Amino acid sequence: MVASDVPTLDPQRIRELFDLRSDVYAARGGAFETDPYPAFHQLRETGPVHPGIVGPLVGFHGEAFFQGLPYPELPHFSVFDHATCQSVLRDNDTFVSAPSAPGPERAMADTLLLYMDGVKHRRYRALVQPSFVPKRGGWWSERWIESTVRALLDAIEPLGRSDLNVDFCAAIPLLTICGSFGIGVSDALRIREAATADGRDAHTLVDILAPIIAERRREPADDLISVLVQAEVTEEDGERHRLSDVDILGFSHLLLAAGSGTTWKQMGITLLALLTHPQWLAAARADRAVLRAAIEESLRWTPTDPMFSRYATKDTTLGGVDVPAGSVIHLCFGAANRDPARWERPDEFDPSRPPGAHLGFGGGPHICLGMHVARAEILTAISALLDRLPNLRLDPDAETPRIIGMYERGPTAVPVVWG
Ligand code: HEM
Repeated sequence: MVASDVPTLDPQRIRELFDLRSDVYAARGGAFETDPYPAFHQLRETGPVHPGIVGPLVGFHGEAFFQGLPYPELPHFSVFDHATCQSVLRDNDTFVSAPSAPGPERAMADTLLLYMDGVKHRRYRALVQPSFVPKRGGWWSERWIESTVRALLDAIEPLGRSDLNVDFCAAIPLLTICGSFGIGVSDALRIREAATADGRDAHTLVDILAPIIAERRREPADDLISVLVQAEVTEEDGERHRLSDVDILGFSHLLLAAGSGTTWKQMGITLLALLTHPQWLAAARADRAVLRAAIEESLRWTPTDPMFSRYATKDTTLGGVDVPAGSVIHLCFGAANRDPARWERPDEFDPSRPPGAHLGFGGGPHICLGMHVARAEILTAISALLDRLPNLRLDPDAETPRIIGMYERGPTAVPVVWG
């Protein structure tokens, strides 16, 4: 990736691909305007676990797939408190990530880390984990994050106003993860389009990635795709082998989708939280330790992905509710993160609260692989904004931005002015 190409990204196309109100996000309730937190509290007050699916339980009646289906025949339960979510995340005998019932998730369990379990999950995750540990933060920052942030700010700074959601937050994680795959700026938006869950455009991914995989097999470089190409996995029978192209494409699909589709929204949520709490914006400007705390607090206060699911392997009792084997268990991290049993004044955005185990990045063996990269992206990006744009504030002439969405939450816009 060449940093000077960064400003050439088509802003109109970014606007279309990174708009929660667009068709791309319809099935995940991108345009859902209701604040779900009062309903989360009400549900939790009557019990930690409820039969049903998070969306419909709080008034979102969208398309079937993301109401927790495609398993309409299975029983569904949703968890709203912190302690029960944690117990499900940690009990990997009773609750697994891949359903045994046939369906799309079952089919993806062979190649997609997110749906693998047990030993296979540990083995495959171990192949890429070393590239994502905090020690490797410098590798990500120096190779991709800092140059992208600088190039974007060079383009924005003279303008005096911007919708940071589009001009800044969307581009940084997309170009970082594409850069780490050796994908150029000119293909980045095609990748984003193809990698979104609804796009399901495997052909574009293969078209762009296959030549890069072949090239790195011939001559590895200092990037993530070379890590995947060189990785050797040991199977249960002790046999060692390199990853197949299908394995690499599965990894790539997940990383490109997860890497480009989450951090932009969380960065926007963090920015909006700071811009609407000027005392915290000033404190973060004066001391970047406060900015770090504000990023963690935004992940607790409004995690961009507030729900993930597990499947019960046996009959069990969860939060006092009988759960039959095969049930789908929806863990509402959003609700758990505002559990008053865990946090005082849970609805308040307060970066000074003591650090605690929020579930913004999940927990247990599937805890977000990219969390340190995401933190580095948000910290580098907002630090640079504070360094370079004096008197950064919400644009008083723009429509008031709102945080919207059901299963993917983020701002409608982050309109700012400076100077
Ligand atoms: C602020 C941004 C992000 C948030 C809020 C987030 C959130 C999450 C959550 C909650 C999970 C757990 C899913 C589960 O338990 O089933 C997860 C998993 C994952 N995330 Fe992230 N993520 C973010 C950024 C990233 C980035 C930047 C990458 C890649 C560069 C990434 C890659 C992954 C992968 C590969 C997994 C699956 C891990 C596994 O199954 O072992 N994420 N993420």
